[in-house]
Amino acid sequence: MEAKAEAKPSTADTLSAIADREGFLATSDPALQESADRGEAKLLDYRQLYELWERQQWATQDLDFSQDRVDWHERIDPEERFARMYGLSAFFIGEQKVADELGPIMRAAPTEEQRIFLSTQIADEARHVAFFDRFYREVGVLEGADGLAERLAATEEHVNDAFHQLFDDLLKTRVDHLAANPDDTGALVETITLYHMIIEGVLALTGQHFIIDYNTEQGTLPGFVEGFQKVARDEHRHIAFGVRFLTDMAHQDPAHLEAIQRMLAESIPIADKVLDPPWVQGDEDWEIFGQSKEETHAFAAQCLSRRLKVIGLAA
Ligand SMILES: [Fe+2]
Ligand SMILES: [Fe+2]
Repeated sequence: MEAKAEAKPSTADTLSAIADREGFLATSDPALQESADRGEAKLLDYRQLYELWERQQWATQDLDFSQDRVDWHERIDPEERFARMYGLSAFFIGEQKVADELGPIMRAAPTEEQRIFLSTQIADEARHVAFFDRFYREVGVLEGADGLAERLAATEEHVNDAFHQLFDDLLKTRVDHLAANPDDTGALVETITLYHMIIEGVLALTGQHFIIDYNTEQGTLPGFVEGFQKVARDEHRHIAFGVRFLTDMAHQDPAHLEAIQRMLAESIPIADKVLDPPWVQGDEDWEIFGQSKEETHAFAAQCLSRRLKVIGLAA
């Protein structure tokens, strides 16, 4: 057990390897910049983030899932298929929920440049839903479920209670408030902290990284891996926007730093539980996609700490 842990690269080395992937470092997400451990990072501005979006387009229709279909039904045994359903379902439903909630956040952003970037993000999140829907449909992950709504309903049983608490309670309450009060900048700062720093930064990218790595090592689901890399690159760009926005807001009014801290304190304990697979009881250890609970949490923590240092918060 210890020998295996020693043989693994450190989180910092893993992040450097991710930064080497095509177009990832270009997003300016501080988690991929070593200097962010000292609170220094090169951040793109809103117009540059928009222009990067134009250059980083991709189409779900270009992906070929034929080998994935063979792998899913013939090379992955039923027990492993069930374990994998947790990760896949959390992403499929999560993408649908974030796509649906982003409209009021976009409208509440104070500048036109910010709203233009967030509009591109709405298109990205819709594409991420389409990516999962196409994968489920072409691979035949849920036999008997026809149509997007049916597939989403059928996949819902695989996510845990903390997942619902984070999305349906914490996020939805904030977004409903912003829809009615688009001028409440403090609420917008809290919502972007929850959406971009916790849901995308801590949860989505951690799961994405380990699922991509695991499938690459196992030589499984090549079409999925190709598309999921594109999804991950989009998420780094979204998070880079979040860091830029929160940094700018903190400079404008240091009181916003308290709003960021308040939201982190409220959401991190729930996010930690979302990372636990639903079959785990209490604080027991687990391993999924070849990673232990400790390694998974260490990865999420270092990404968050680099981003917070750049925003001006000691993690
Ligand atoms: Fe997404
Ligand atoms: Fe995103």
